[in-house]
Amino acid sequence: MTDFEGVRVLVTGGASGIGAAIVRRLREEGARVAVLDLAPPEGDPDAHRVDVGRDTEVRAAVARVAEAFGGIDVVVNNAGIGARGTVADNSDEEWHHVLDVNVLGAVRVSRAALPWLRASPRAAIVNMCSVAARAGLPQRALYGASKGALYALTLQMAADHVREGIRVNAVSPGTAATPWVTRLLDSAPDPEAERAALEARQPHGRLVEAAEVADAVAYLASPRAGSTTGTVVEVDGGMSGLRPRR
Ligand SMILES: NC(=O)c1ccc[n+]([C@@H]2O[C@H](COP(=O)([O-])OP(=O)(O)OC[C@H]3O[C@@H](n4cnc5c(N)ncnc54)[C@H](O)[C@@H]3O)[C@@H](O)[C@H]2O)c1
Repeated sequence: MTDFEGVRVLVTGGASGIGAAIVRRLREEGARVAVLDLAPPEGDPDAHRVDVGRDTEVRAAVARVAEAFGGIDVVVNNAGIGARGTVADNSDEEWHHVLDVNVLGAVRVSRAALPWLRASPRAAIVNMCSVAARAGLPQRALYGASKGALYALTLQMAADHVREGIRVNAVSPGTAATPWVTRLLDSAPDPEAERAALEARQPHGRLVEAAEVADAVAYLASPRAGSTTGTVVEVDGGMSGLRPRR
């Protein structure tokens, strides 16, 4: 028996990168995992095409998953999009769009899943935050603000639902080796130099692996973390807290 045998899980953004690593990890442990993604992987019967920016789509998909699985025990709000620029650079439309996906996306999915989480004996929500929530990074005004909001939302939700037996935590990765970062590197004038700069920015000297983030999610979603709620686990090679000498 593992911690996840028969556990019913919903992962947003589970088609790529960190989300795909979470789906793999929890399925390996015996969980039934549904994927809600804009671009779901083909051939996966438990993957649904959903834009977390659209409430009616979210409600319908969450209800479909709950009916197919007989309930929902764990929600991982992982879907997210990036944005580059200072406060001077992004339009109002871009601000609304990124906040709508990165913050309200987690609100919509959690809200729709709450009735089933309340009925679960081991309910947990894990939000995918970022080092940009607490560390000031250049050109990340909008993205960092969205993840800062998700960080605060995690604490408020944890307080609201602790007496209902629903734990709410977040994982905060540093720069992780995913298709997202590959796209970022490909758009840089010198991708090799950009990669070296990103690696050097993290005290442990390399990019975070998606599987390392998935391990932290698995811990927070498991009954082993039964006394852990309202916390944010940093998986960032020390980026948010350490100031090592070069
Ligand atoms: N890669 C990093 O360096 C890094 C660092 C810190 C935090 N994060 C966070 O981790 C999460 C996953 O990032 P990743 O690097 O795996 O990215 P990714 O681009 O590889 O995967 C993101 C997934 O989310 C899906 N998605 C995007 N918008 C959606 C929407 N509106 N509705 C439904 N699905 C949507 C995409 O289709 C994709 O499958 C994001 O929330 C990101 O902010 C990533």
